[in-house]
Formats: sequence, C-alpha cells, structure tokens
Amino acid sequence: MINNNETKLAILGGSPTRSTPFIVEPMIDHNEEKLVLEALKQRNFSRYIGVGVDDEVLKMPSAEAAQITDYWHFLGGENVRQFSASFAVKMGTPFAIPVSSATAGLSIALAAAGIGPYDEVILPGISFSATGNAPLMIGAIPVFVDVNPETFCIDPNEIIKAISPRTKAILPVHLCGNMADMDAIMDIANQYKLKVIEDACQAIGGSWNNKKSGTIGDAGVFSFQQSKNIMTGEGGMIITSDPEIAKRCRMILNHGELCFDDTATTEELAGIIGLNFRMPELSAALGRAQLEKLDTVNNWRIKNADFLQKELNNIPGLKIPINQSTSNSPAENIPHFFTLLFDENAMGMPRSLFVSALRDEGIPVGTGYSRPMYANPTFLKRTAFNKNGFPWVDGSGVKSEITYEHGQCPVCENLLYKEFLWFYHIAYSSTIDDMTDIVNAIKKVINNKDELIAAEHLLEDRSKEYSAGRIGVAPKMLKGK
Ligand SMILES: Cc1ncc(COP(=O)(O)O)c(C=O)c1O
Repeated sequence: MINNNETKLAILGGSPTRSTPFIVEPMIDHNEEKLVLEALKQRNFSRYIGVGVDDEVLKMPSAEAAQITDYWHFLGGENVRQFSASFAVKMGTPFAIPVSSATAGLSIALAAAGIGPYDEVILPGISFSATGNAPLMIGAIPVFVDVNPETFCIDPNEIIKAISPRTKAILPVHLCGNMADMDAIMDIANQYKLKVIEDACQAIGGSWNNKKSGTIGDAGVFSFQQSKNIMTGEGGMIITSDPEIAKRCRMILNHGELCFDDTATTEELAGIIGLNFRMPELSAALGRAQLEKLDTVNNWRIKNADFLQKELNNIPGLKIPINQSTSNSPAENIPHFFTLLFDENAMGMPRSLFVSALRDEGIPVGTGYSRPMYANPTFLKRTAFNKNGFPWVDGSGVKSEITYEHGQCPVCENLLYKEFLWFYHIAYSSTIDDMTDIVNAIKKVINNKDELIAAEHLLEDRSKEYSAGRIGVAPKMLKGK
C-alpha cells in the first residue's frame, strides 16, 4: 500500500525524502596528522626571514628551492618549499608559489604580470566576488563580459568586443570545474598583447588540450579554502612558467621592496609594494598530504556527478549542461558542483518554488551566486576605495568609460536568476546513497509538480528565505503551519 505521507511533498505536509544532513568534509588521514604533528614537534611555524636575496633565489624553480640550504628562509620553511615543489611537479610547471589565499593570489599574480592602476582587466560576469575584487585591489578596473551559456565560462567573442587601449589582461574563470575556451583566449591575448591570469580555483586537475588548468595563461591561481577539492583551511597557490612573474610574485607576497638592495632600478621597484601573503608552515604541511589525494578526491566528485547525470537525464524542464570530458571538447573537466539548468516554462513554475520544495525534502541546493559581480554595490556605486572614485576616476579627474549596470550580461543573469541549480554535495564523503536521495527527491518534486503548482498561492513569499545562493535547507513556510 502506498504511504501517502511519503509520496506527499514535505513542503505540503508529507515526510521529507531525507532527514539527515549531507556530510562533505576534507579527506584527512594519518598522513595529514603525521606531517602536521612533525611540524608542531619541530616548532616549525614560519621560517621566513626577510633577508636581501638576489635574482638567482627569486627566480629559482620550486623543485630546486626545496633543496637549497642557503637563503631558503626567503622562500619559506621546509613544508612550504616541499608543498611548492610537489605542486609544481603535479601541474607540470616550474614555479608554484604558496600564498595565504587565492584572493590574494589573484591580485599578486595580476600585479606580478605588470597590471596596475587604471589598467583594464576583462573577466566574466559570474564568479565568486573575490575574482572581481582582485583587479580592484591593485587599482585596476574590472571589465565584466558575458559567458558561454553551455560552459558558464567567459565568452571569447565578448572579450574582443570589450578590448580598449587600456586593456592589459584577461582573467578567465574555470567555473564549476568547466574549462574556459583557452585556445580562443590565448589567440586573443597574443593578438592584442594581453596577459592571461587563470582563476582555476574551481578547476584543480582539469585540463585543456592536455595542459593542466592554470598552466596555459601567464599564471594560474588555485584556492585551498576548505570547500575546495584539496584544502589547507585557508590558502592558495600561484603557478607560472615565467621566471620574471615568479620573482615578482615572491616579492609581493614577502613585503615587496624589502628584499631589494639599493641598486634596484625604478622599473624593478614600480608596482612592487608588497604585504605579507605567506602560507604558514602548518597549512603547507596539510597541503603536502592533501596534494597526494588530489586524484582520489577529484575522482570522487566525477563518480557522484556521473551518477547524477545518468539518473537525471531526460527530465523535461531540467537540462544537464555539457560534460566537457565526455563531449568533443578539448577539455577534461572535474565537476566542482553538480549543475542543472532549470527551465521555468517547461516546468510551469518559478525556480524558487522548485528550490523550496527540494530543500524541504532535505536536499541542499543552491542557485549560484546571488548576482553577477558587476551588480555588487562596489561596482554599481563605484565605492571601491573612497569618494574620489578611484580607480574609475584618475588623478587628473578623467572618468573611465566602463559601465556597470543590471542587464549588461544577459547570459550571466539568466543563469543566476533563472536557471542555475547547484548541488554542492558531490564531494567526499558523500556517497552514491546520498546521490540517490538527491535523485529521488528531484523525481518526487517532479511527480508532484501539479499539486505543488496548485498550492503555490498557499506558500508565503519565500523569496527572502530562499534568497539566491543560499545552501541551507529552508524551514517549512506553509501558511498556518
Ligand atoms: C572562482 C573563485 N575564485 C576565487 C576564490 C577565492 O579563493 P580564496 O577563498 O582562497 O581566497 C574562490 C573561492 O572561494 C573561487 O571559487
């Protein structure tokens, strides 16, 4: 006999598909414990010493830096240099530079590539706000352009339209684990002599034409914040094959001009105001152990995403985006979130209603970032630094022509405001049983679609509760409950 309470939607008073939380946590074992304990026992927390160093040290490839016995203090302690060396080998690049976060890493990499005040940096409208703030932090002007609706990554045709005499760099983001079209981006960069800094925070291990994410542009940046595929709590890594960029990164993260002797030229000094963006030894110890698990945790995400893709195929109203690894794209993607695209017309209901019903079934689902980056107040109101409008107004009062307004990137807005459904829980330690709950809950909502739509008027306005981007499961909000 069918139990009505189980088939009835939780949002309409039935039992939820799932009542236990999903668990996503970093994969930690004896290796992390061993390396962190060793660092503790050796009293190694930061071995940095601000000695004056020369070009040879500043441009030393990471593998060599892990071996040196002289001047190593400038490049970090044992764990920082070992993590850096192993990361460089894993990515197939000579330089891997540990930093305190990817947010810092993006600003450092841009500055190291020679980008500075009033220069324009072209980037996609969708990313975590850190990407949009990174150029601003060094006084450069972010120029947001639309994305490809299939990959959610920057649309090369839109880059070309946005190029001006002030454009100095492109900052593609490999969003949700999808790879941006790096062939087209590098062609444009070569033609217009622009630098390319890849934001590879959500795509560690992905590749384009067999080149690892982050190694194709002038530099690439990764995040080790806890939600990322591998983590150090907080932390990041800049990779590059350019010794000059590596040198400048190492300077900027280590107080900048401090390490120069007084013979340095103005060219060398300009734009090298540094702060302290170093990764601590304990974090690097964690990172060394985590790096060994990169393939395992990436395959974990792939397995869960592949399951969802197979089980949710052919549901009218829910589109599964392109899987770059199995399509004829040159990319291998590592899904960071599992993404579905919601079609309001085919579903006959707004996305907010679907999301509310799914959350009440016990399934955490998000809708991407709450708005495109250009719609953040920093940009709409141009309040980055002060009332004078820097960097959109230069020292002589000349105003930048770059605009930020609602509606400027229709594809971004459609994805964020109408289509995106992001399932965060494909990472370790979510299992296929957990994925089955997601599938069952989605199917339950679809099976009860008519009842849900008919009850829409009974549901209070949940727009605030559900506010785009929130991960949590919203409480029941049926009137009279
Ligand atoms: C695409 C993207 N860029 C930048 C960042 C910033 O990384 P972090 O938190 O290490 O500063 C993140 C992480 O949240 C991200 O997802």
